[in-house]
Amino acid sequence: MGFGGMFKKLTVFAVMVTIMATSVAAQPKPGCQSHCGNIGIPYPFGTRNGCYISSDFFINCNTSFNPPKAFLSDTEIEVLNISLDDGHLRVQYDKSIGYDCYDSSGPTSQGSSFFGHRKFSISYSRNKFTAIGCDTIAYFWGFYMLSNYSSGCLTVCNNVSDVINGSCSGIGCCQTAIPRGLQAYFFDFSSSRNHSSVLTFNPCSYVFIVEDGAYTFSTSDLSNLDFNKREYPLILDWTIGDQTCEEAKMDPKNYACKQNSACIDPESGPGYLCKCNHGFQGNPYLSIGCQDINECETLKPCNESGTCHNTLGSYNCSCPEGFEGDGRKNGTGCSPQPHRENFPILVVALGIGLSIGLLFLIFGVGWLYRTLQKRKYIKIKQKLFERNGGLLFQKKTSSNEGRLDKAELFSSKELEIATDQYNENRILGCGGQGMVYKGMLSDGRIVAVKKSKDCKRRTEVPLLVYEFIPNGTLSHLIHDQNEEYPRSWDIRLRIAAEVASAISYLHSSASIPIYHRDIKSSNILLDEKFRAKVSDFGTSRSISIDQTHLTTQVLGTFGYLDPEYFQSSQFTEKSDVYSFGVVIVELLTGKKAISTFGSQEKRGLVSYFMSSMEENHLLDIVDVEIGKDSQKDEVIAVSQLAKRCLNLDGRYRPTMKEVAMEIERLRTRQGDCIHTHQLKQAEVIARKSIESWDFTSFSTEHYPNCSITSTSESDVHPLML
Ligand SMILES: *[C@@H]1O[C@H](CO)[C@@H](O)[C@H](O)[C@H]1NC(C)=O
Ligand SMILES: *[C@@H]1O[C@H](CO)[C@@H](O)[C@H](O)[C@H]1NC(C)=O
Ligand SMILES: *[C@@H]1O[C@H](CO)[C@@H](O)[C@H](O)[C@H]1NC(C)=O
Ligand SMILES: *[C@@H]1O[C@H](CO)[C@@H](O)[C@H](O)[C@H]1NC(C)=O
Ligand SMILES: *[C@@H]1O[C@H](CO)[C@@H](O)[C@H](O)[C@H]1NC(C)=O
Ligand SMILES: *[C@@H]1O[C@H](CO)[C@@H](O)[C@H](O)[C@H]1NC(C)=O
Ligand SMILES: *[C@@H]1O[C@H](CO)[C@@H](O)[C@H](O)[C@H]1NC(C)=O
Ligand SMILES: *[C@@H]1O[C@H](CO)[C@@H](O)[C@H](O)[C@H]1NC(C)=O
Ligand SMILES: *[C@@H]1O[C@H](CO)[C@@H](O)[C@H](O)[C@H]1NC(C)=O
Repeated sequence: MGFGGMFKKLTVFAVMVTIMATSVAAQPKPGCQSHCGNIGIPYPFGTRNGCYISSDFFINCNTSFNPPKAFLSDTEIEVLNISLDDGHLRVQYDKSIGYDCYDSSGPTSQGSSFFGHRKFSISYSRNKFTAIGCDTIAYFWGFYMLSNYSSGCLTVCNNVSDVINGSCSGIGCCQTAIPRGLQAYFFDFSSSRNHSSVLTFNPCSYVFIVEDGAYTFSTSDLSNLDFNKREYPLILDWTIGDQTCEEAKMDPKNYACKQNSACIDPESGPGYLCKCNHGFQGNPYLSIGCQDINECETLKPCNESGTCHNTLGSYNCSCPEGFEGDGRKNGTGCSPQPHRENFPILVVALGIGLSIGLLFLIFGVGWLYRTLQKRKYIKIKQKLFERNGGLLFQKKTSSNEGRLDKAELFSSKELEIATDQYNENRILGCGGQGMVYKGMLSDGRIVAVKKSKDCKRRTEVPLLVYEFIPNGTLSHLIHDQNEEYPRSWDIRLRIAAEVASAISYLHSSASIPIYHRDIKSSNILLDEKFRAKVSDFGTSRSISIDQTHLTTQVLGTFGYLDPEYFQSSQFTEKSDVYSFGVVIVELLTGKKAISTFGSQEKRGLVSYFMSSMEENHLLDIVDVEIGKDSQKDEVIAVSQLAKRCLNLDGRYRPTMKEVAMEIERLRTRQGDCIHTHQLKQAEVIARKSIESWDFTSFSTEHYPNCSITSTSESDVHPLML
């Protein structure tokens, strides 16, 4: 037992010796003197040329003293200690204490030496300005760069018994802080009564700047006439250069901080310091200065049953087999692991359970997400579908009444290619709800693609693909001067029948009646066999009702609008009937809904037609191409029908169904019997009556770039894909 204890003590002692040895060893530049007497000289300081970083760090080691003394370069400032860690330099110098002495006749002697260093400043945190005396006002004049300041303290006492030995508390001794960055100073004194009343115990005032804590006031110092011959240490702050760390790093060649060290901007002033990183120690100014601390040796941080592993800049502890914990004395240490038998089964079971649960969770969340996305997508699609007249489309396909049995879906990519990325050149027309582009599908079919304006998100751009109608609109057919267009009465009547049937279908067949709201000859498309197809695309655009000039002009100018609708704001199925009436009149007269009639002013076709009917010269205004005697009865019958459609009171207008039947009856009588399924050939693409009160079908003249291009022309040129 006794031997064991002794052995341990010896080991501890040996370790302590090692630690002291390493910390005391100064680290000069290789090949340079490490000490001057008792004073270690670490780099960046050095005693020889090439051993210091710059001339300010030159240590003049004067060996004529015993032991040798170190002086700061060419000054009389004696260096007592060099600290690398915080950039301090403990120094002292002769005549550092100022004095101001009196006798009964008055002032006798005064002394103050100027102190300063061109590079190193007086540490403001580690020094104190100190004055001793009982009739003393002491100042120091300080310089920092070009500024000039002064500070000081005052001490007065009447009786030596008031003075507290050992405490510089303002009676007989006063202390004050010094400002930051002080580089030089000298002292000045004043006395209020020439020490006359305290001469017995305090003939002199003394003043000095001293390392905080290095001087302890003693009452005897008040009467000590040789106090000024003493020397007290003072702390200087040193830094490398005058750059900040950031600036210094930009000049790697002269950057003083080497491996495993960091740069520090000291608060004392310009220049920088280096410091070894955590876990390293040594001289950061030398290239292999900062070396890893073997914490296993120095700290012995691990529990005795654990094993210590030193790592670069750190360490770790491990526990022996069968033990767990961090192995540290400070930490959890090493404790035996719980029983091994239960461990694997439990952990494996738990692990498997958790994994399966997690798997289900992941799949579940994924599935839920997809479902929700899908539902959202379907909802959006449904909305856009309905908005674009899809309801009708659906009804038609489900009942298989119409000829839309070849319903197709196109991917947006396909349509993009077909329309050459929605090229401007492909614009056929534009309306309040979107642009219509001409496109060519990969199988060569020509289509018109309607692209909604109001949806900004790309994936949700609603697209409607129409079969491209090569023969343009009814408006073209009637009003173009093209001789080749078949404009016979039969064709006109057939077109009227087809359009009427289509609108009638819209009004009656859908579960919710659909009002077209925009019937006009330019919205009636003609296919290659001049069969009519009612569409809503073309020149329509939304006009807000508060545009007053439009409100006043709507009737006379925009020919197709139901005046009753205009007055009441109530769009009814009869409003479509009115518009269709205008189309019939166009078919009859070959005139535009708004036109110049003879010598008269520009005015509505409707009023022109109605007045002609009233005045009984209808046949004068009928298009010359159809005014043959053989068709006179039919023309009159159709005119009568148009007149009824154009009744100012909607209640007296026939329904669209009646109109369709009437026209069909006329055609049957004519002998050109058409069958129901043929009537249904009129493809209808319309939009649902929407709540917003929008006028449509105004002319395109305000949008010269946005009108239907002449179909006959664009057909000639092949589409570039
Ligand atoms: C060393 O100190 C002595 C005495 O103060 C002085 O005479 C001598 O010049 C000093 N030597 C150097 C190298 O400064
Ligand atoms: C220098 O200062 C350090 C700590 O600041 C101290 O341990 C060491 O003894 C001092 N050396 C001298 C010569 O004063
Ligand atoms: C600082 O003030 C003292 C006292 O007024 C004066 O003697 C000294 O010349 C001044 N120094 C500078 C640099 O202004
Ligand atoms: C100083 O104080 C002592 C003790 O309090 C007293 O005896 C003495 O008279 C005082 N001297 C003067 C000059 O006041
Ligand atoms: C202090 O001594 C000086 C020089 O003798 C004299 O001029 C001055 O008046 C004295 N002051 C007081 C307060 O006695
Ligand atoms: C003052 O204190 C110091 C030590 O702190 C002591 O050596 C000295 O004798 C004391 N002086 C008096 C007058 O008590
Ligand atoms: C142990 O913990 C204390 C306080 O947290 C700390 O000061 C000490 O350095 C630690 N010792 C070791 C070896 O980690
Ligand atoms: C401890 O450090 C050693 C040496 O770097 C390494 O091999 C070991 O894995 C470390 N152990 C732990 C627990 O980090
Ligand atoms: C080492 O760890 C064990 C288990 O945690 C503990 O019982 C023991 O006291 C520790 N020893 C030391 C020196 O910390």
